[in-house]
Amino acid sequence: MSTKNMPIGFFDSGVGGLSVLREAIKLLPNEDFIYFGDSLNAPYGVKSVDEVKELSFHASELLLEYKVKAIVVACNTATSAAIEDLRNTYKDIPIIGIEPALKPAVELNRKGKVVIMATPMTLAERKFHSLMEKYKENADIVPLPCPGLVEYIEKGIVEGEGINSFLREKFSTLKGEKISSVVLGCTHYPFIKRELSKVLGSEVVIIDGSKGTVTQLKRQLLNKDIINNNDDIGKIKILNSLDSKEIIDISKKLLEI
Ligand code: DGL
Repeated sequence: MSTKNMPIGFFDSGVGGLSVLREAIKLLPNEDFIYFGDSLNAPYGVKSVDEVKELSFHASELLLEYKVKAIVVACNTATSAAIEDLRNTYKDIPIIGIEPALKPAVELNRKGKVVIMATPMTLAERKFHSLMEKYKENADIVPLPCPGLVEYIEKGIVEGEGINSFLREKFSTLKGEKISSVVLGCTHYPFIKRELSKVLGSEVVIIDGSKGTVTQLKRQLLNKDIINNNDDIGKIKILNSLDSKEIIDISKKLLEI
């Protein structure tokens, strides 16, 4: 099989990376995709860096068994813990990561705080600190770790009272402060965007990094001349470490949101 016709692999700690996959399907409709959600081990964001590295290698090995031509680490936490090691190990294929989309938020240049919602690990890692360093002169940036939020989305819950009160409680620390934008620094969070908007009001801009990541994926496929030139609509395969039909059904539903 020519490399052009090989699938593109995606992985995340669970169902979150589907928010990136859905953008990839829009941008690259003729590609085949294999998605691996590691829901058995979710959440990653409260584990140790070494554990997340090991799980990221395991996920990558699994995708490589399916002969993927590129890997998208559709998880901010795994990107911050493991992307360099993954790139050093799998030198022959493009490995694309995701990080909180701070740049577009800062460039909005609006008055008020730029809040970054992410997992505790993403916000604690070096990668995020150098990103903060780059923009802290130009914006009032507030990191907001959100342990506990991923668990709702893993159950397929993306709106309702539970999430609403979780978010209200989280943002209560910023009561009375003007918020200009919120960066969703975890790939699970775009699924709760509607509920977040209800809590914050529609004037707060909510930004996620999935479009930037898939644009980067496309650029790399073009650079390496491995983009699929087929006219047929690509196939999508969803795998999960939880061997249950329920998680696959949740995944398919989320992909359609
Ligand atoms: N979806 C993930 C991220 O982008 C990780 C969530 C988790 O497992 O804690 O960070």
